[in-house]
Amino acid sequence: MKSKPIKILAIETSCDETAAAVVTKNGGDVNILSNIIASQINIHKKYGGVFPEIASRAHTEKIIPVVERALNVTRYKLRVKTPYNALTYNLLRNIDVIAITIGPGLIGSLLIGVNFAKTLAYAKNLPIIGINHLLGHIYSNWAKKPYPMFPALILIVSGGHTGLYLMKSHNNIQTLGETLDDAAGEAFDKVAKLLGLGYPGGPAIADEVAKVKSYKVKVTSDIKLPRSMLNSGDYNFSFSGLKTAVLYKVKELSRITCNLSRITSAAVAASFQQTVLDILIGKTIQAAYEFKPKSICLCGGVSANKELRQQLKMAVKKLPSKTSYHIPPIELSTDNAAMIGIAASYHLDQVTKWDNIHANANLKL
Ligand code: KG4
Ligand code: ZN
Repeated sequence: MKSKPIKILAIETSCDETAAAVVTKNGGDVNILSNIIASQINIHKKYGGVFPEIASRAHTEKIIPVVERALNVTRYKLRVKTPYNALTYNLLRNIDVIAITIGPGLIGSLLIGVNFAKTLAYAKNLPIIGINHLLGHIYSNWAKKPYPMFPALILIVSGGHTGLYLMKSHNNIQTLGETLDDAAGEAFDKVAKLLGLGYPGGPAIADEVAKVKSYKVKVTSDIKLPRSMLNSGDYNFSFSGLKTAVLYKVKELSRITCNLSRITSAAVAASFQQTVLDILIGKTIQAAYEFKPKSICLCGGVSANKELRQQLKMAVKKLPSKTSYHIPPIELSTDNAAMIGIAASYHLDQVTKWDNIHANANLKL
């Protein structure tokens, strides 16, 4: 007999994206029915980073329309006959479980999503599951087949976190190393600010680096930056020294040329990006030699970086043993709720009642 698919409404508000998705799990198959994201980039741009209090207010304004849209898109796809402007409350009829990001993240932002999700669960008497945001990033690699095999080596690179993990099963994730200071994405954001490239820094730096190629000058070898902790013998990372090294380099180059030219600025961006990639890839490959995983998975916002996706792929290909390589679809690299729903679908044994769910800004994996 065929079992009924489990339908999950997932909500994510840990930082500056208000996101909702509907995900189904049918046996071993995961399906994303809707994935809605309201980005706050335009709001935070003028501050050069996320302004926590404003982020919380924006979540409050966006959460109902975003959840309603995620449910409506599903209704439309499934041709259920309810009026398009039906209340979220009625659309919840088809939902079996609510999944909510409970941390880590900005506490004000987390609380909006957590309280909204708890209220829905209470009102509709639905089971709810609290999901770690980082676990969500990991499961962005389970959005499409072939799914990773265990043991899987996971590299998470986001704006708030950078770390290497060995995932032996869905319930066994061992931390190999993490950043001791700044996350890689944070370094991208800070260096972009320093070079006047705008926010968010990751895509801004990647665009600038793409221009270097069109300048047809060989620049990266002239601007040497430290590859911090690459040979530290462990799997920890450090990016704050690199950021300071970029600052000194910019000062030195500005002294020589008075003003940093566009070409020099792009060259610094290129050298910085390559340095970060060398560290991330170097550590991942070192871990691959030690732990011999069957799969290597990249995830987190910085996994949207095309050079990182490509260069890590080449490095994995050169490994002596056959190792599959997984990257999330680009739209699931940065924060979204579909990844939270997918993570929930593999941990349905952890569903609970609304009053057991609490936000934790410093939640560990
Ligand atoms: O995972 P994410 O959306 O949020 C956190 O959980 O932190 O990651 C956001 C980070 C930002 O630092 C952003 O600059 C970076 O991901 N990012 C990128 C790219 N796209 C986003 N970094 C490098 N290259 C990109 N293309
Ligand atoms: Zn994230």
